[in-house]
Amino acid sequence: MYRIVDKKILNPTVTQMDIYAPLVAKKAKPGQFIILRVDEDGERIPLTISDHDKAAGTVRIIFQVVGATTEKLNHKQAGEYIQDFVGPLGRPTELDGIKKACIVGGGVGCAIAYPIAKALHEMGCEVYSIIGFRNRDLVILEDEFAACSDKLTVMTDDGSYGQKGVVTEPLKEAIEAGERYDEVITIGPMIMMKFVVATTKPYGIKTTVSMNPIMIDGTGMCGGCRLTVGGETKFACVDGPDFDGFKIDFDETMKRSQMYRPFELESREKVCNLFKKEIE
Ligand SMILES: Cc1cc2nc3c(=O)[nH]c(=O)nc-3n(C[C@H](O)[C@H](O)[C@H](O)COP(=O)(O)OP(=O)(O)OC[C@H]3O[C@@H](n4cnc5c(N)ncnc54)[C@H](O)[C@@H]3O)c2cc1C
Ligand code: FES
Repeated sequence: MYRIVDKKILNPTVTQMDIYAPLVAKKAKPGQFIILRVDEDGERIPLTISDHDKAAGTVRIIFQVVGATTEKLNHKQAGEYIQDFVGPLGRPTELDGIKKACIVGGGVGCAIAYPIAKALHEMGCEVYSIIGFRNRDLVILEDEFAACSDKLTVMTDDGSYGQKGVVTEPLKEAIEAGERYDEVITIGPMIMMKFVVATTKPYGIKTTVSMNPIMIDGTGMCGGCRLTVGGETKFACVDGPDFDGFKIDFDETMKRSQMYRPFELESREKVCNLFKKEIE
């Protein structure tokens, strides 16, 4: 069992938790993830290691409440326990040799992008971070990004905070102004990553995307997370989650991620009804 050491609500749908998991904290690297089960009957879900503290033995996860398991997890409080917390899994993000990078995060994807921006900054790399959200209430990790970026632009779809518009606008502006990044690393909704790649590809700027297909075992055995990369079948859990954005078939991946939608909606309804009954 793994103790929740700290819990913080970051915005109405996003929660941060620090979990006591010293063996995971000891080995964690940016870009890696864990797979957890909230309780014995729970399903496994992957969440990125957003930060870790080797000395304290804690691992930070930041999750958006989107369905049954994240809803259940969000009902746990500091001092309580979760059943399983396995990791670190996946390949760490390759950062060697990057001197100037642009990090583009969208929504809760910023929780995944942040440790990468932080690691690049600690390596002495020049970092431009662009983070985007639907509106002001959903902005997360602004101070954290500010602390590890040479330049930070916050975008909101409705203009209620930062600049109005989508993340590809300042990215395109910077590239057109002559900025040349060794690499653009983007993490967020699939559609956002697809358009970031469409922005960088004409300029031939290496672009890494973090893919988050359905994962079950996280060890390359079940095939649940397979995707097509440059015409070859890859497993995001062991070959990724980072891939060359120019080689991803985004349309196929988006279609696959919708496959379980009816089952996911049904389980979320069940969990919500369960909590409603407990409260009554
Ligand atoms: C490598 C990786 C890292 C991730 N990191 C984060 C993170 O740091 N923060 C965060 O909020 N989310 C992250 N996700 C997504 C997160 O795993 C899903 O939001 C979560 O599984 C939803 O489960 P649910 O039961 O609450 O929702 P459900 O209603 O079951 O599903 C809602 C949506 O979540 C996704 N999803 C559901 N089950 C899985 C699964 N087993 N594997 C992958 N995706 C699933 C699907 O897109 C689905 O449509 C990550 C996914 C992957 C693959
Ligand atoms: S999650 Fe099973 S093969 Fe990747």
